[in-house]
Amino acid sequence: MVAERISVIGTGYLGATHAACMAELGFDVLGVDVDREKVDQLSAGRLPFYEPGLEEVLNRNLANGRLRFTSDYAAAAEFADIHFVCVGTPQRPDSNAADLTHVTAAVESLAPLLTRPAVVIGKSTVPVGTAAGIAERIAELAPAGSEVGLGWSPEFLREGFGVHDTLHPNRIVIGSDSERVVSTMRELSAAQLAEDIPFLVTDLQTAELVKVSANAFLATKISFINAMAEVSEAAGADVMKLAQALSHDDRIGGKFLGPGLGFGGGCLPKDIRAFMARADELGVEPALSFLSEVDAINQRRRSRTVDLARVLIGGGFAGRRVGVLGAAFKPNSDDIRDSPALEVAATVASLGATVTVYDPEALEKAQQEHPELNYAHSMLEAVRDAEVVLLLTEWGEFRDVDPKQLAKVVAEPRIVDGRNALDPEHWRAHGWTYRALGRP
Ligand code: UDX
Repeated sequence: MVAERISVIGTGYLGATHAACMAELGFDVLGVDVDREKVDQLSAGRLPFYEPGLEEVLNRNLANGRLRFTSDYAAAAEFADIHFVCVGTPQRPDSNAADLTHVTAAVESLAPLLTRPAVVIGKSTVPVGTAAGIAERIAELAPAGSEVGLGWSPEFLREGFGVHDTLHPNRIVIGSDSERVVSTMRELSAAQLAEDIPFLVTDLQTAELVKVSANAFLATKISFINAMAEVSEAAGADVMKLAQALSHDDRIGGKFLGPGLGFGGGCLPKDIRAFMARADELGVEPALSFLSEVDAINQRRRSRTVDLARVLIGGGFAGRRVGVLGAAFKPNSDDIRDSPALEVAATVASLGATVTVYDPEALEKAQQEHPELNYAHSMLEAVRDAEVVLLLTEWGEFRDVDPKQLAKVVAEPRIVDGRNALDPEHWRAHGWTYRALGRP
């Protein structure tokens, strides 16, 4: 097997990052995508999404010839004997379950072309039990039959930190019952393992579960602190001080204990829903019923933010001017999938307000999805003449803004800090009426 050549199937967020970073680590990489436009764009050194540092890695490795892209599966099967499956598994439009269309299509396209011994490693997030079915399908379809091994190696990268998280993962998990697959994965990970990173070998099912249970835990932690924010609001307590006090217990820790508008994006919300749907199929629905509460708490933060703004503005939104800071689901990303910020902005607009949104990176995508909102190309432009300002994504430039400067352009110095990103004392000292989730 030619270990230094790999193919990466699917060049969305995960696949493009994985392909570019594997090239950076010294492998010869062929990225495969059925979307020719994406292939052309990536081949020309342009990313279809914003991710800090990735475009440099992409261009460096296109230039040195270690990275190429194609839409031809046959080229991938010819080029490499190690294939990573990195296609997306979004939520199905008609239910909570994961849509496995892309995973199935990738396997059905690749497997019949595998005429030599090969290793297929799935990285997509899939419902537990999917990989075992894929192993059977590969055995049926691949001319090389049992010489094609399957492993599942979940990916834990965070958007905004994709390059770092791929080059320096905090653990590598490989699920497989094939010794050959495990040793291939160990070889591929050698560059990262030099840093003493745990390398965990499991069965296929456990590897699939690691990913969804990690995301379920993170979502639960965020909703836990947001539930405490609800209680704090009712009781007149300060959830930020509460979170700080909790964080000093290292069994709890301070990460993912940030109260505010809650989680969004392409992973956490759809992963907990798909996990519940799978538990239902497995006959263990009660085991994960708490996740529907996690989801509900998360959704309530969005409506609560709208309510705070309504109270602050003194009644209805009809005919009022609202300035919104942030559209992406989190800072350092242009991803607007299930973005709490955009949902709040759209709700306020649907209630009759004139809403103007600014985001450093996500404007173009937001505009496509929500043409009914107005968009500005700077923070000051977005809040000009606003009767209330909503901070909904905590970009660095919003955290650092001078409240004095902002006060000069708004109609009324009123702000809802949906991310607990600002210092209330500082803003109040400059004449602002400041409201935040979970604080008096
Ligand atoms: C997540 C997982 O972290 C990652 O390991 C997995 O591979 C994919 O899903 P990502 O979706 O990129 O990554 O974003 P993440 O940084 O986890 O944030 C998720 C959401 O939680 C964001 O909307 C963020 O604003 C919110 N969040 C995070 C909080 O509301 N409070 C916190 O304390 C932390």
